[in-house]
Amino acid sequence: MIQKINAAITAVGGYVPETRLTNADFERMVDTNDEWIKSRTGITERRILKEPGKATSDLGAPAVQLLCEKRGIDPEEIDVIICATVTPDMVFPATANIISHKVGAKHAWGFDLEAACSGFLYALTVGASLIESRRYKKVVVVGADKMSAIVDYSDRTTCVLFGDGAGAVLLEPNTDGFGILDSILKSDGSGKEFLHMKAGGSLKPPSAETVANKEHYIFQDGQPVFKAAVKGMADVSAELLEKNNLTGDDIAWLVPHQANKRIIDATANRMGLSHEKVMMNISRYGNTTAATIPLCLWDWKHDLNKGDNIVLAAFGGGFTWGATLVKWAY
Ligand code: UT7
Repeated sequence: MIQKINAAITAVGGYVPETRLTNADFERMVDTNDEWIKSRTGITERRILKEPGKATSDLGAPAVQLLCEKRGIDPEEIDVIICATVTPDMVFPATANIISHKVGAKHAWGFDLEAACSGFLYALTVGASLIESRRYKKVVVVGADKMSAIVDYSDRTTCVLFGDGAGAVLLEPNTDGFGILDSILKSDGSGKEFLHMKAGGSLKPPSAETVANKEHYIFQDGQPVFKAAVKGMADVSAELLEKNNLTGDDIAWLVPHQANKRIIDATANRMGLSHEKVMMNISRYGNTTAATIPLCLWDWKHDLNKGDNIVLAAFGGGFTWGATLVKWAY
């Protein structure tokens, strides 16, 4: 009988740049205050990649390097690198290719995947399928975003929300029942009007006019996104538990996308999870888009135990959303 193969996460790497932008900094930049930001979002500070000439690959590459060190492998052993991002270094080539080059993953092929804040979950599911296909033994999934490249620092409704960072996981085959066990992923393109970048794509190529109109920044109508996120993330997480005959008691950790503390709290409540089981680092990094979930895994790496049931959950632009069930492998 052919043994079932799961894709197990066997190492995690994470990286955030040094420079901090605090709520006090924003009080000097726009009409806002620490109390509003903390109470509405849960954010205290974010990290910003400030050095000129540095891009998303400069966040992703150190995360992948750390992951290789943790696992004790040479980057040349990596078969595939998938990079989830909405802020690629360039429209093309793919940031995954640039990361491969920077870390010396000479034998890897790879590509970028764009699903906004759900990008890491989408990429993880694709990466897991490559392992389950038995064709690849080492697949790296990176979530990396330099959000500061597309934030309008004069728009108080969005600038306080986002930060830069990257996280990466290594997927390897496992035949003992550990790894990525299930995923429910969803999308609804009608959500595009509430969260998008107006220009720079084929719909509205860049021009002097689009730049003058500030159309290369994030546009978000916060309230409808908030409502859809609360419902989407909570519903899909509950659906995942039910589908796998689990309750909140069976879950060791919820690893939610870090967009807003209130969305995270609603998801945890719906799953019947107490606060201690929820990874939350939004106060230190803000919303790093595709990087939030792997950065949580990086921050909590010493608290994860073999056999832990973990639910990863996300909601983002598109709309895209989903939840993934992982049995921790080490
Ligand atoms: O990760 C991808 C998915 N994104 C999300 O999940 C984000 C979802 N949305 C949200 O998290 C929230 O909608 C926000 C945090 C973006 C906004 O919070 P809110 O409670 O929905 O506020 P609001 O947009 O309804 O704005 C309330 C008030 C407005 O003033 P008026 O019209 O009531 O006078 C805003 O102009 O707060 C004002 N406001 C601010 N005030 C101080 C908006 N931004 C700020 C600010 N500082 N930075």
